Amino acid sequence: MTEQQLGFGIDIGGSGMKAAIVDISTGELVSDRIRIDTPQPATPEAMAEVLNELVTHHRWGGPIGVAFPAVVRHGVVGSAANIDKSWIDVDADALFSASSGLDVHMLNDADAAGVAEMRFGAGAGRKGVVMMLTFGTGIGSGLFIDGVLVPNTELGHLELDGVDAESRAAAKARDRENLRWSEWAKRVEHYLLHVEALFSPDLFIVGGGASKKSHKWLPEIDIATEIVPAQMANNSGIVGAALAINER
Ligand code: BGC
Repeated sequence: MTEQQLGFGIDIGGSGMKAAIVDISTGELVSDRIRIDTPQPATPEAMAEVLNELVTHHRWGGPIGVAFPAVVRHGVVGSAANIDKSWIDVDADALFSASSGLDVHMLNDADAAGVAEMRFGAGAGRKGVVMMLTFGTGIGSGLFIDGVLVPNTELGHLELDGVDAESRAAAKARDRENLRWSEWAKRVEHYLLHVEALFSPDLFIVGGGASKKSHKWLPEIDIATEIVPAQMANNSGIVGAALAINER
């Protein structure tokens, strides 16, 4: 039996901040998953307070991994497509480490989800070029070459038909425009064909909110590349963040 090694992951989204203790040798959550509403406005300082609440609730005293919906280079936030603009250029690692008194490391949310899927989920043992794509409020991407992450690819912001691709093909576009699954699937297919032409991946893993209902749209996607749903559902951001800080 593998020895249990614990880590702590927080997944930050536009509406909620979710955290749990993770067995990083198996990818399983070993505590409740606690969710606190993302404060509005979602400023760095307000989020630091929520992070402390999550840590206190779990009585956690070790390193913390954070998944965040933006470009994050070495802990510094570099974009703000769907988050408060005050995050740009903030050193999140420094801010959260100082406010919590613990060692905190932040990475992009789709990168974190991909790290978890590559280790324990749909990408386990897969070599070559694997692309994780998350369909939620935006489209997130995590690119892996022989299991090694190329961070911050941001492929949701590819320009397609003259617009930001995620504005048409994210799960949020389906809700906002009240699209049928088949209508939305055609948009996703159009997007995937573009990404396929640019990267020739060996495998696409699709996650995010829409992956819970993948049976409603994935069969409609007609592309050459193998495409599979994510396996870790809602937990991949938490698990990937916990892995990322413990393996730095
Ligand atoms: C952001 C990415 C993020 C994705 C999914 C995009 O709008 O630019 O950084 O990974 O949404 O949350």
